[in-house]
Amino acid sequence: MMENKVEVSHLTKKFGDLLVLDDLSFNVKNGEFLTIVGPTGCGKTTFLNSLTKLYDITSGEILVNGEPVNLKKHNIAYIFQEYSTMPWLKVEENIRFGLEIKKKSEEEIKRSVDWVIKMVGLEEYRDYYPRQLSASMLQRVVIARAFATEPELLLMDEPYGQLDLELRFKLEDELIKLWKKTNTTVIFITHNIEEAVYLGENIMVLTNKPTRVKTIIKNPLPWPRNVSDPEFIELRNKITDLIKWW
Ligand SMILES: Nc1ncnc2c1ncn2[C@@H]1O[C@H](COP(=O)(O)OP(=O)(O)OP(=O)(O)O)[C@@H](O)[C@H]1O
Ligand SMILES: [Mg+2]
Repeated sequence: MMENKVEVSHLTKKFGDLLVLDDLSFNVKNGEFLTIVGPTGCGKTTFLNSLTKLYDITSGEILVNGEPVNLKKHNIAYIFQEYSTMPWLKVEENIRFGLEIKKKSEEEIKRSVDWVIKMVGLEEYRDYYPRQLSASMLQRVVIARAFATEPELLLMDEPYGQLDLELRFKLEDELIKLWKKTNTTVIFITHNIEEAVYLGENIMVLTNKPTRVKTIIKNPLPWPRNVSDPEFIELRNKITDLIKWW
């Protein structure tokens, strides 16, 4: 297995004359949980869209497993900022969907769905439709759908932005558990510094546009993390001081 899951070198992305990503270079190790923090409009979504080839990049390179991204070959799951379930499908069918696309056998599908539905605590809600669920349950369906395909790389774009604090912590804890159980490499985007410190093994800080990598900070705190732990607060303050977006 290669050491790096993702290698970004000299990534530059312009929209017409607007320079958004300005020569970004960094690596994400296999199995790493990287959080990326950056101000609104700095190009976080643009980066994920570039990685998944929704956007063409202007120059530079993004490699997965040492080769150009190939969505047929690389098993990448992408949870969009405006995440959604399919309202006409039940919870279980929503989760099966990604596996059916990948043409897995019925036996494999059943095994994966049962495992992941249990992991996110939705066993009793298999036959519910999305409209019958709360926001946090919907978010679990989306996470379950992503993990069911056992992605080698999971991209999450501010998935918990709309949720209240308590639910957010709960779902973040579940995410860490799922990540630890699998060997998935995770890139988690947020503009919330506390969330970045709560989750990330490494925290990458981006500047305002034109966007560059300001710094990457290692987070040595073990899980579960405690937001009122002095070490946590120190790290959070350090990152806050580093970034003056305002
Ligand atoms: N398809 C597009 N065409 C033109 N400009 C775009 C396009 N997508 C993004 N942009 C511009 O690129 C910049 C970065 O946008 P992006 O959505 O990547 O930011 P972001 O960091 O994800 O912001 P947020 O925190 O609000 O989600 C913005 O100035 C945006 O207007
Ligand atoms: Mg965005």
